[in-house]
Amino acid sequence: MTNRVIGIDVGYGYTKIVTDNGNGMVTPLSFRSIVGTYEDGIQVEGLKSVAKEIVTISNQRFLVGDGALKHSSRILNGREKDWIGSVAYRALLMHALQLAESNSVNLTIITGLPVSYYRSDREKLINIIREIACNFCIDCNVKVIPQPLGSFFNLLLNSNGTVATQTLASEKVGVLDIGFYTTDLLTVSELEAVEKQMDSFENGISTSLEVIAKDIEDTYAMRPSVYKAEQSVRQGYIKAFGVEKDIRLIAQQRLTELAQEITAKAKTIWKNAADIDRVILTGGGAALLKPYLNLYQHATVIEDSQFANAMGYYKLGRRYQS
Ligand SMILES: Nc1ncnc2c1ncn2[C@@H]1O[C@H](COP(=O)(O)OP(=O)(O)OP(=O)(O)O)[C@@H](O)[C@H]1O
Ligand SMILES: [Mg+2]
Repeated sequence: MTNRVIGIDVGYGYTKIVTDNGNGMVTPLSFRSIVGTYEDGIQVEGLKSVAKEIVTISNQRFLVGDGALKHSSRILNGREKDWIGSVAYRALLMHALQLAESNSVNLTIITGLPVSYYRSDREKLINIIREIACNFCIDCNVKVIPQPLGSFFNLLLNSNGTVATQTLASEKVGVLDIGFYTTDLLTVSELEAVEKQMDSFENGISTSLEVIAKDIEDTYAMRPSVYKAEQSVRQGYIKAFGVEKDIRLIAQQRLTELAQEITAKAKTIWKNAADIDRVILTGGGAALLKPYLNLYQHATVIEDSQFANAMGYYKLGRRYQS
């Protein structure tokens, strides 16, 4: 294909990608943001499926996603300080571009940075993406915006990049993006970001998952990983000693606590939010915390919230391209 537009949201928990097949059919893709070492012995009989999860950065091979969780002897990414400068971050970007089958003449990539790093790291990220993207295209266009703004554009624009709702353009809108490690808050007034009403909090779904894992250990004598705890929360049970154990009450209690903490932090910035026309709750965490969040009467969880930023990036990309 000659022209491609890809929206990529690299989160601490999951990398989300939105692109199209050229006929306007928009496809969302995602994988766990985990990068691990690739040992040669890994490719034994029966493990051939990992081939798609291998990326090469500076002549070194890495496993990305669930494959890394299963097979790597060492996981690279913790939440290091220079996250976007790390090899792990490059590997995630590379894997995202491979998955999206990005080969094209003109490639437009839109992505985001957490509100707290946006100013300091924007230029640096643009350069890193250009370096990786040049393996896939002749001409590449890269745009980086504050992460939660993706969800705002998702509501503002149609899939082809035209404006869907004029009213949103003249409103004051609050966006709360609840992620795996962090929650980002951003306010847009008549299409401009309100500097004093932006923030990042170190509360995300993993905060709850760690406590839930400990509660499960105290109750059922088995300590699950954060990832296993996440799966159990979704299922409502965990298997210990071959038997399914109900964890719904544990999850309810800990997710309620997290929802209360996030609510309190949001209220330190927006107060009672009387001057805001609507509040959008986004990020995968908004879907998970929906039953426990009671933030404002004019706050709503955006549809398909985990993909809302990536979807907005894609739509913005279509707007730039046309
Ligand atoms: N539809 C859903 N229902 C319930 N939980 C969900 C849903 N979608 C995602 N989640 C959960 O939401 C959490 C956060 O996901 P998300 O992809 O927004 O995090 P992230 O963007 O990687 O993190 P961060 O923004 O901190 O970098 C995950 O733990 C995930 O399991
Ligand atoms: Mg996120």
